Amino acid sequence: MLQDGKLYIGTSRKPDDTNNKPEYLELKFGNRHGLVTGATGTGKTVTLQILAEGFSNAGVPVFCADVKGDLSGIGAIGEAKDFLQKRADQIGLTPYEFQQFPVIFWDLYGEKGHRVRTTISEMGPLLLSRLMNATDAQEGVINIAFKIADQGGLPLLDLKDFQALLNYMGENAGALSSQFGFISKASVGSIQRELLILEQQGAEQFFGEPALKISDIMRTTNDGRGAISVLAADKLMMNPRLYGTFLLWMLSELFEVLPEVGDPDKPKLVFFFDEAHLLFNEAPKVLIERVEQVVRLIRSKGVGVYFVTQNPLDVPETVLAQLGNRVQHALRAYTPREQKAVKTAADTFRPNPDFDCATVITNLGTGEALVSTLEGKGSPSMVERTLIRPPSSRLGPVTDAERKEIMGVSPVAGLYDEDVDRESAYEILTARAKKAAETAAAQQEAATQEASQPSSGGSRWTLPGFGDEEPASPSAAKPKARSGYQRETIAEAAMKSVARTVASSLGRALVRGILGSLRR
Ligand SMILES: Nc1ncnc2c1ncn2[C@@H]1O[C@H](COP(=O)(O)OP(=O)(O)OP(=O)(O)O)[C@@H](O)[C@H]1O
Ligand SMILES: [Mg+2]
Repeated sequence: MLQDGKLYIGTSRKPDDTNNKPEYLELKFGNRHGLVTGATGTGKTVTLQILAEGFSNAGVPVFCADVKGDLSGIGAIGEAKDFLQKRADQIGLTPYEFQQFPVIFWDLYGEKGHRVRTTISEMGPLLLSRLMNATDAQEGVINIAFKIADQGGLPLLDLKDFQALLNYMGENAGALSSQFGFISKASVGSIQRELLILEQQGAEQFFGEPALKISDIMRTTNDGRGAISVLAADKLMMNPRLYGTFLLWMLSELFEVLPEVGDPDKPKLVFFFDEAHLLFNEAPKVLIERVEQVVRLIRSKGVGVYFVTQNPLDVPETVLAQLGNRVQHALRAYTPREQKAVKTAADTFRPNPDFDCATVITNLGTGEALVSTLEGKGSPSMVERTLIRPPSSRLGPVTDAERKEIMGVSPVAGLYDEDVDRESAYEILTARAKKAAETAAAQQEAATQEASQPSSGGSRWTLPGFGDEEPASPSAAKPKARSGYQRETIAEAAMKSVARTVASSLGRALVRGILGSLRR
């Protein structure tokens, strides 16, 4: 089924409905991205499944989200069913063999897969703002919060860290505003309320440690097949913003972590973005621009991104233009918007003189699609009306028992199951608050001297690297003594932190990439 350097998608048909030729996706163009679209029930998930199978067999790891639970069967061996065998016969796929694929199940909620987490620090201000649907004013405050944390070496691991930092910012809004820009207490308050909502929606499980290591979704098996990471997304879909933000974070991580490889023989990883409209829905313009940029640049890191969605209009034009490998299933054309989608889809193909794309798109059967992939020096092949091959793995979900078994023997079993709560902003700030309370009595004496300090009413925490530990006030002696302690605490925290969550040296701000993830 796997030709040299190619992945078999299906067999195209001639106008007289006989077989034309096999259609392939060339692995060397696998990082030139792709698009799978079609109305509901037309065969998108099965197409995703056979593409994932093909990449896995070619040794390419795959990451995909399982939105309806019906993709999980890729972890089980397929069964001969009449309609599948019929399709196989029709396209000349003989023998039609069955296969089980190396699957790693993941789940943000830890129910249907290994836990996936990241830290607030790693997610960054842009995506966090998106996750909270922040207003401009709130986004401004979130940016300041990250500036404070990044420059101060305060690891923001989970939601309570972020809450603690926001408390600190609220209490010291006056002093911090003069250094970082205006911090509105009202915005701080509304972000805090928004965080509580996120927490109630279960997002707290997603933030913390151990954070997902990208290398764990880039595994291959001993027999040279790429692992297929399947993210359980049925429950996650009830919180579409978390789903969209999570996948964007993954993309952002891949982009920041992976080295440049130019144009490899085959992709390093293929990333399927199912229900892609959720990513772009109501997304602010700047985010869409950044996504467009990441999609464009991630190609040279060997990552292929495949968007799966019902309507090609769901994907912004600038992104659409970069998707080289296309599988267009049937679309309906009742409403004007649907008609526009058909036209858009038809216009993006290199025409085939044998048929009119727009007409055919509305007439395609289930599991049939217009296919065009990159060929030659990277130009799109002429569009062909293609019957997609049936999967070798199971069509439909795995049972709970099968899932358990697969998880039990997974290479990441046990690595992500337990939460680790190491010292981070919450602990550091809480310890400082305690310390501040303990020394409050001692400070009474110095109170008159310190009255000139803007933050005198609030907590006495200082942050390193901003000069506020060495105020130009007459009280310099006292804070200096305390700042020694704080430097140590933060240095300690930094030592305990993995290098990625804090700056490698104090006073050096963390560097963030296009989508706001940490640069490594
Ligand atoms: N390549 C194929 N070979 C054989 N049968 C197929 C193929 N593709 C799709 N089918 C049949 O069509 C059904 C629906 O396909 P699929 O689940 O992929 O649709 P979908 O576009 O993902 O739908 P939804 O939008 O509801 O998720 C499958 O369960 C299967 O019975
Ligand atoms: Mg589907």
